[in-house]
Amino acid sequence: MFIRPYRSTDLPALKAITVAAFDGVSIDQGIEREFGEVNGHDWRWRKARHLDDDAAREPEGIFVAEHEGQAVGYITTWQDRAAGIGHIPNLAIAAEFRGHGLGRQLIEHALGHFRASGLTHAKIETLVQNEIGNHLYRSLGFREVARQIHFVASLAPPKDSGG
Ligand SMILES: CC(C)(COP(=O)(O)OP(=O)(O)OC[C@H]1O[C@@H](n2cnc3c(N)ncnc32)[C@H](O)[C@@H]1OP(=O)(O)O)[C@@H](O)C(=O)NCCC(=O)NCCS
Repeated sequence: MFIRPYRSTDLPALKAITVAAFDGVSIDQGIEREFGEVNGHDWRWRKARHLDDDAAREPEGIFVAEHEGQAVGYITTWQDRAAGIGHIPNLAIAAEFRGHGLGRQLIEHALGHFRASGLTHAKIETLVQNEIGNHLYRSLGFREVARQIHFVASLAPPKDSGG
């Protein structure tokens, strides 16, 4: 097992890891729970596109955990150099490789990458129900600074009440 820089050919594998991993801990899935599929797209379709965004934004900030030639996990990052803050938008490990410290190693790798770039702080988000994220990030020195509520509204006209 080793951590290496991202290659564009990793993208399909990273998307597959993502849609499997985020079941139960995804804002996109919360939208589906309330509204059903949106415009013919399920939450996995929307979540996988986050990887497209991350790869378009800062491909050199993505790191991949590889085992026997296969990507088994990844972390995506981008840097706000003016603010001195590094961001970690996505992190996932294939289910069968979890619980062996790989998530921690990937975060430490990202933090090293930020430090090497001269950044002073790192930011990561997790949902309240993500027990592993809540434990892991705090144990790596992240402190809770705010909680946010995500709201979504349908733009369909209100149903005619018949009056
Ligand atoms: C979050 C994730 C990347 C962690 O990867 P991992 O390789 O399993 O992480 P590690 O093995 O390095 O560490 C897991 C830690 O969580 C702890 N943990 C495991 N299950 C837990 C639970 N139910 N509640 C609290 N802590 C838990 C482990 O004990 C370990 O902590 P320790 O090192 O102090 O013992 C992985 O679980 C994952 O892909 N989850 C789904 C996607 C996701 O949630 N991504 C992050 C979104 S913010």
